[in-house]
Amino acid sequence: MEPCCGPTEPGPYDAIFDSRFSGALARRYGRKGLRHPELRIVEFLAATGIEGASVLEIGGGVGEIQLELLKRGAARAVNLELSAGYEKDATRLAEAAGLESRIDRRLGVDLAAAPDDVEPADVVVLHRVVCCYPDYAALLGAAADHARRALVFSYPPANPLSRVFIRGMNAMLNASGRSFRGYIHPPKAMVEVLRSRGLEPAYRWHGPVWHLVGATRG
Ligand SMILES: C[S@@+](CC[C@H](N)C(=O)[O-])C[C@H]1O[C@@H](n2cnc3c(N)ncnc32)[C@H](O)[C@@H]1O
Repeated sequence: MEPCCGPTEPGPYDAIFDSRFSGALARRYGRKGLRHPELRIVEFLAATGIEGASVLEIGGGVGEIQLELLKRGAARAVNLELSAGYEKDATRLAEAAGLESRIDRRLGVDLAAAPDDVEPADVVVLHRVVCCYPDYAALLGAAADHARRALVFSYPPANPLSRVFIRGMNAMLNASGRSFRGYIHPPKAMVEVLRSRGLEPAYRWHGPVWHLVGATRG
């Protein structure tokens, strides 16, 4: 693992999270709306009070969580992404919702490596992102420092099934010459990073594939 933070070149993320990946997410959201973990994220943040709030989403993909938070009263959203593959679909979805003027999509900004380049926000979201990033302490620590009120993140559980899945996926990525890797980070240690930055877990949800922790500032 690099000391800090993730891959320095954008290629690993572009190669995996490409326009095909994006298209599948956008089509699914268009047909069926949010999936269970995303709905839980939105509901947790809505319960903490989202009216007029600013949202910072790290690795937000096509942006469906931001769109739903904006529809529920959030004022604006900033999305940080390391892959360019989503931009077309994200723009189309935001325009279709009439929300494009309230979303700022910033490409190639890695919060862990350049925390001062990003303004804090009332709420911070990382859905299916820490497992795509080697240095969870740097990423979650920077994310927590940018959360004025609340932060929610999802991660794959550290159980044998997830480990086998990630190991198999990484072996296939390695065999195909790709440098992107997935990670199962220790759940307790991730929560401790939030605690060390003044955020206390207030919500947990365990689905079969993704677990969520929502934390608030006291
Ligand atoms: C599995 S995808 C999830 C996308 C979206 N959140 C979703 O659930 O559909 C992980 C995303 O995290 C992004 N990512 C990983 N580390 C990041 C970082 N430090 N800053 C911004 N984006 C990051 C990757 O580019 C990728 O698009």
